[in-house]
Amino acid sequence: HFDASHRTLSVEAVVVTAAVQEAARSRGLYYPVSFASEGSSQIGGNIATNAGGIRVLRYGTTREQVAGLRVVTGRGEVLDLNRGLIKNATGYDLRHLFIGSEGTLGIVVEAILRLTDPPPPSRVLLLGVSGMPALMTLFARLRDALRLSAFEFFTDRALAHVRRAHGLAAPFAQATPAYVIAEFDCLGDADEERALACFRQAQDAGLVSDGVISQSERQARELWRYREGISEAIAEFTPYKNDLAVTVAQVPAYLAGIEALLRRESPEFEVIWYGHIGDGNLHLNILKPEGMETGRFEARCRELSEPIYALTGQLGGSVSAEHGIGLEKKPFLGITRSEIEIGLMRQLKSALDPKGILNPGKVVS
Ligand code: LAC
Ligand code: ZN
Repeated sequence: HFDASHRTLSVEAVVVTAAVQEAARSRGLYYPVSFASEGSSQIGGNIATNAGGIRVLRYGTTREQVAGLRVVTGRGEVLDLNRGLIKNATGYDLRHLFIGSEGTLGIVVEAILRLTDPPPPSRVLLLGVSGMPALMTLFARLRDALRLSAFEFFTDRALAHVRRAHGLAAPFAQATPAYVIAEFDCLGDADEERALACFRQAQDAGLVSDGVISQSERQARELWRYREGISEAIAEFTPYKNDLAVTVAQVPAYLAGIEALLRRESPEFEVIWYGHIGDGNLHLNILKPEGMETGRFEARCRELSEPIYALTGQLGGSVSAEHGIGLEKKPFLGITRSEIEIGLMRQLKSALDPKGILNPGKVVS
């Protein structure tokens, strides 16, 4: 159901994310949550994990788009939460308890999603960057000069994998240690000129060596493939995935700290960095060396996680930005959440699912 006056779309949980985007587009509106698996992921799962993706920088995560939820709790009770209201100050907003709960408190069966104005015309900028320390300086400069809707990064190793797996050409003649892909509003020549000027200044400052600005929708999509294909490209290497977040201000110290740690502790592993660096979310993937037994590899990665998470905790960061806690990250929940918080989460779990029948063993159960 589409409510034109509220600009909301009511969907069942199994509706695929891309179908929501398309339904919005067909009504002249926009559903802004976007990520590589949007063609197969379903809204119920997006809500259960509070999915993020590439446009969080401007639009926030899935949470920000949910105007209402119908859920069935572990007690078998059906709750109709917020019913699409824009304002509703009547006590605790239970809707938000279920968003990101990973199916442990209730099953989402329907959602009312907020749609928004279609974005202005945009361009995609791909930059070859001198190294990790340049990334956030570049972010600050681009964000001051342009209206950004996305700012993502990946390393040369990530690029090598995505090129191999998807048969893509090198973006530039010269390789660089890191790459940035940014999307900005481009209403005319003035915006493009500003982007070019910004690029030249970054070049003069030694931050970037090469760059390209998309000249068509098709080229924009092609440039995005360098970023969006990474996760699939590395899947065959049994990656040990870390999905980390700190505040944007902490990113440079955090990146430098983890890089030093990995150089010291695990020079034998191939490490693939990429992610949504403009919102402080870094995907750190460790690839399993060929011939190494999976159990031994995972045990070693868990050992490595200890100092990585210790640093994450010191900086007030999160051990899972958008991938959830599940089983794998469960022992580390206490890095990001206090004992008091975890105790309250357990009480909520037992209030909503007293028999522990919903996604047993996950998160706090
Ligand atoms: C991505 C997924 C892995 O950003 O979160 O590609
Ligand atoms: Zn991601």
